[in-house]
Amino acid sequence: MGDFADYARKDFENKKVVDGVNNEENDVQFNVEDAKAFDAENAAAASTPVTEANAPVVATSSASVTLGRGLDVGTANLVSSFQDNGGNVNLKIQRNAFIDIDCDDYTRNMLTRLGVQYVVVNGRMVVVGDPAFELANIFNRNTRRPMKEGMISPDEADALPIEKMLLETLLEKPQQPGEICYYSVPAEPIDADMNVVYHQGVFGGLLKGLGYEPKPLVEGHAVVFSELAEDDFTGIGISCGGGMFNVCVSYKSIPALSFSTSRGGDWIDRNVANVLGISASRACGLKEKGIDLTNPQGREEEAVEIYYRNLIAYTLKNIKERFESSSSMPNFPDPISIVCAGGTSMIGGFTEVFQQEFEKIQFPLAVKEIRLAEDPLYSVSKGCLVAALSESV
Ligand SMILES: Nc1ncnc2c1ncn2[C@@H]1O[C@H](COP(=O)(O)OP(=O)(O)OP(=O)(O)O)[C@@H](O)[C@H]1O
Ligand SMILES: [Mg+2]
Repeated sequence: MGDFADYARKDFENKKVVDGVNNEENDVQFNVEDAKAFDAENAAAASTPVTEANAPVVATSSASVTLGRGLDVGTANLVSSFQDNGGNVNLKIQRNAFIDIDCDDYTRNMLTRLGVQYVVVNGRMVVVGDPAFELANIFNRNTRRPMKEGMISPDEADALPIEKMLLETLLEKPQQPGEICYYSVPAEPIDADMNVVYHQGVFGGLLKGLGYEPKPLVEGHAVVFSELAEDDFTGIGISCGGGMFNVCVSYKSIPALSFSTSRGGDWIDRNVANVLGISASRACGLKEKGIDLTNPQGREEEAVEIYYRNLIAYTLKNIKERFESSSSMPNFPDPISIVCAGGTSMIGGFTEVFQQEFEKIQFPLAVKEIRLAEDPLYSVSKGCLVAALSESV
């Protein structure tokens, strides 16, 4: 899993947005206030000669790649996917984050030495994706996040051009105009005022701008597509993300029930941080460092376990209530599988705690197994790709 993530991230680094060279002329200027987003290809072509080493993003050769793309639009991570003609799925992942830094010679030189790419926005250097996360640690700052609780963030004025930059680099150009790109959207949240209309429209517009035909896919449904093929796409897919949990109860690939909750990994971090009196990013580090929920060691790990358990119980309770209160649920003749995906499901002991909480309630469906997705971080993107491939010729 870790190796795969590293590979995908490295692959991204090889595709340069723009070389952070020690030369003002090569800085790319764009104005965020005007929402004039950075165009990686034109800017790079205009400012630096194109060589193997500094090549901007280019369309992947259509000879080797099947038409159709998948894109997981997540609060914490963006993941793109395509299939080559050998049937291999290629994935790229980047943190959905950025950081802006004072534009002085010292910092510029440091970024160049570190090989970090940047663009200049309104006189400040902006770094996006994974390098932003690493720099935030170096500068002891928090990254800025274009999305919050599963949707484009109302608190972040610069969100759109940053997302455009990240999408350009992750997806590359379509192999032909109007290539289908399925992208994940949250189901309607049950515990937040936000609706998904604006968020869906924004990402649809960005993808259209890149030359794709955008098609939204509810995130839980994407988990069903990638993980429940052997069950005839019948069962429950849950994406346990950073900003949300997304649930889809599916019968023969048709969603019978979909909803999201605005509680996810960030919610755990915030709550653990509050009770322990530490920062949310420290709480996140603590959570990701390799805890076993079935055997928490000490006060800090116990706090993580308590909030995980609460979040899982809350999710199960909502599935049960919504399933029982709906008049139009299909009959599931056979016991079904529940599959959990997303980064939040990757903590040690997740399925065991899920099983324990499941046994505490009278679940309205017969369940044969509760399991993790094969690659929890990539499952949603792969599900989007399955949908795209099935519609592309
Ligand atoms: N090993 C791990 N243990 C626990 N949590 C982890 C681990 N690895 C990643 N996470 C958490 O997973 C979350 C990110 O997961 P994911 O990439 O699935 O979210 P997302 O799709 O970006 O968000 P969303 O779907 O909610 O918009 C973060 O909260 C992160 O802290
Ligand atoms: Mg997600």
